Amino acid sequence: MPTTGNSIRHLSLSVASAFAFVACAPGPQPSGTPGPTRADVAAVDPVRAAAAARGAFPTGWRFEPGEDATFGEHAMVVSVSRYASEAGVEILKAGGNAVDAAVATGFALAVTSPSNGNIGGGGFMTIRLADGRTATLDYRETAPAAASRDMYLGPDGKLTNKSTVGHLASGVPGSVAGMAEALAKYGTMSLAKVMAPALRLAGEGFLVDSNFSSGGQCNRLIAQFGGKELFCPGGQAAQPGTLFRQPDLARTLSMIAAQGPKAFYEGPIADSLVAEEQRGGGIITKADLKNYKPIWRTPVTGNYRGYTLITMPPASSGGVTMNQTLNILEQFAPLPPAGSAAYAHVVAEALRLSFMDRNAKLADPAFAKVPIAELTSKDYAKTLAAQINRNRASKTPAFDPGKEPEHTTHYSVVDAMGNAVGTTTTLNGGYGSGVWVRGGGFFMNNEMDDFAAAPGQPNMFGLVQGEANAIQPGKRMLSAMSPTIVLDPNGQLLMVSGAAGGPTIITATMEVILNVIEHGMTLADAMHAPRLHHQALPDQLDYEQRGLTGAVVDSLKAMGHTVGTRASLATVNSIMRVPGGWHGVGEPRARGVAVGY
Ligand code: GLY
Repeated sequence: MPTTGNSIRHLSLSVASAFAFVACAPGPQPSGTPGPTRADVAAVDPVRAAAAARGAFPTGWRFEPGEDATFGEHAMVVSVSRYASEAGVEILKAGGNAVDAAVATGFALAVTSPSNGNIGGGGFMTIRLADGRTATLDYRETAPAAASRDMYLGPDGKLTNKSTVGHLASGVPGSVAGMAEALAKYGTMSLAKVMAPALRLAGEGFLVDSNFSSGGQCNRLIAQFGGKELFCPGGQAAQPGTLFRQPDLARTLSMIAAQGPKAFYEGPIADSLVAEEQRGGGIITKADLKNYKPIWRTPVTGNYRGYTLITMPPASSGGVTMNQTLNILEQFAPLPPAGSAAYAHVVAEALRLSFMDRNAKLADPAFAKVPIAELTSKDYAKTLAAQINRNRASKTPAFDPGKEPEHTTHYSVVDAMGNAVGTTTTLNGGYGSGVWVRGGGFFMNNEMDDFAAAPGQPNMFGLVQGEANAIQPGKRMLSAMSPTIVLDPNGQLLMVSGAAGGPTIITATMEVILNVIEHGMTLADAMHAPRLHHQALPDQLDYEQRGLTGAVVDSLKAMGHTVGTRASLATVNSIMRVPGGWHGVGEPRARGVAVGY
């Protein structure tokens, strides 16, 4: 679905145009100032943008090049839910900054996108303020104190499904503490103020829209636990156009708004959460909740051909693996055209090498020595690039891949001052563990599956990970979430991007950024272009159905690649600076909604 918003829509512009008009970088402008005109576009580099899109969009691909983006003269919020994007814009228009708006959007997603928006999960936030300061906040879940290395293995030594379904699958949630911490440090408004839209949406209800109704509320996962009556009454999910109210969640949110995160971690919500855990054999205790702390971390900062990427360090692998891959690719720059076999090959080989390091070496830095500087160094990238044969695929051992459900959500925010926030948050699988906290009104995560529950065996994303990411009490499970802010070669804010999709988060976020800064596409084309994915294991280059031509697929096979198709790869939500304002593009494969003004 194309992105829409309450802002004016206008013709997309290439990134080249963004540089040509650096003097027009956004800021408060007289209302009614028109966006760029077709003449502006003609004056910059439409030829390069159109050529890149033509090559990357094969005949039969599900999208056409040249779609519009949503234009906002001052500010932009992009998320998977119209209500949540509008909540962010409501706070911006009330005088809030990008952090205020991000927290408002995050709480609203917990109401209107409950399969992935959450207060029962965790996430990561990347912030870049207009004055140049940067910060990354890790509010990933932690393993409960009673967790142990082999807790998900059956008597036969094989993985059970307890790391994905039910009460034992949850890590200690970080979302409420994380959002409150970000607000306290960089926001300007009270928790009550930024939570007001979410509270309203939960208490007064909202009209079910396609994003909400596509969430599959009547699935077998939810039916096993307490959320069935609310989300699937009489076996029927709420239909589009009907009013959906969540009184339990409204009460929970109002307690958090009034009392702060203590209500969640030590007060009545903690009581409900622990009672729910005990009902189903879970191990999260009041002490686990009380001890939970979000962590400010030094961002991973990379450089690709003059562009700066500010992104997430471990406990997410996203920033390290994306920068490592880009550093390898930089050795081959300028890269072959998007959509060609040569491009798919070199991207796949670079991803293979980075994911091999990711799966073996990255983990919670409090528990493992994580070689961030080495993995992201240009010298190391040179040694890896030298291992890539331009004509021949290398090999990693094959195994049976796991299944990949819907999960996770990313939202991007830019305010009128030029502050930027990218946030990715998750329950892991859609509706997490399926467990709905009775009385609390929210779903719990199944993030424990992101640990190497059985090192060497695949998790639900088919990822095979090593000992560094084995389960230990209090440890954060390795993530792929990659909220990323990109600066142009002049150090000006250019993009905010990030994705949902397990390990494909890293690839898709990188591809959208590469489509803009390497291939010169407009943001809309960069988002609509077909995507690729490789994660070392399984040893397979995946592409989106009809996203490569038959000839390109044949060439990749001839080079030795095992090639697979996916119906869709990742859900990205992005913002890019353009002359006179911002372009926002919500994920066209899902139901992303950009709202600007
Ligand atoms: N649960 C998906 C991730 O954190 O990467």
